Amino acid sequence: MTIGIYFATTTGKTEDIAERIHGLLGGAESPIDISDVDDLSELVNHDGIICGIPTWNTGAESERSGTTWDSLLDEISGLSLSGKKVAIFGLGDSSTYTENYCDAMEELHRYFKEAGASMVGYVSKSEYTFEESKSVVGDSFCGLPLDEDSESDMTDSRISKWVDQLKAEIPGLA
Ligand SMILES: Cc1cc2nc3c(=O)[nH]c(=O)nc-3n(C[C@H](O)[C@H](O)[C@H](O)COP(=O)(O)O)c2cc1C
Repeated sequence: MTIGIYFATTTGKTEDIAERIHGLLGGAESPIDISDVDDLSELVNHDGIICGIPTWNTGAESERSGTTWDSLLDEISGLSLSGKKVAIFGLGDSSTYTENYCDAMEELHRYFKEAGASMVGYVSKSEYTFEESKSVVGDSFCGLPLDEDSESDMTDSRISKWVDQLKAEIPGLA
């Protein structure tokens, strides 16, 4: 079982979280900045993929992250990811950007789903304080939202709980 961790970042916070998730997972390969990937088809070599994305283009309908992910979305939807488990985590600020909290997660989630991936790692919205997020589907976020700007004290417990959840949802990861 191979697990790939990919991220994009503008100020380094998403990379830091990718490293911390990697540390908790054991077994997974070292996190890779998606802007360093020459051929996106390398993603299909993994059984599971964990992707980290910040939100920057506040209120935008598309290209919400302001990172390399935005230019790769169409290419992602063209991959053959049937049978692969994919989980998304997102960085945002639930206080300053409370009406667009972690909006970019949903965009990445949608394109991976189009590629046939089996999406895992959903998290209940009940443990968060925010006004609106495009990443909410029903009662859940379509991934793990994290807030290093206003709630960094909650990050350790959030990622630890999420990694336990992924171990249950991705066979062979535990
Ligand atoms: C100009 C700007 C716009 C932002 N827009 C949003 C937003 O719409 N929603 C949100 O949740 N966070 C928003 N943020 C907060 C960032 O997503 C947050 O600081 C994140 O941790 C940055 O991750 P990075 O260091 O990996 O780029 C914004 C931050 C800045 C500076």
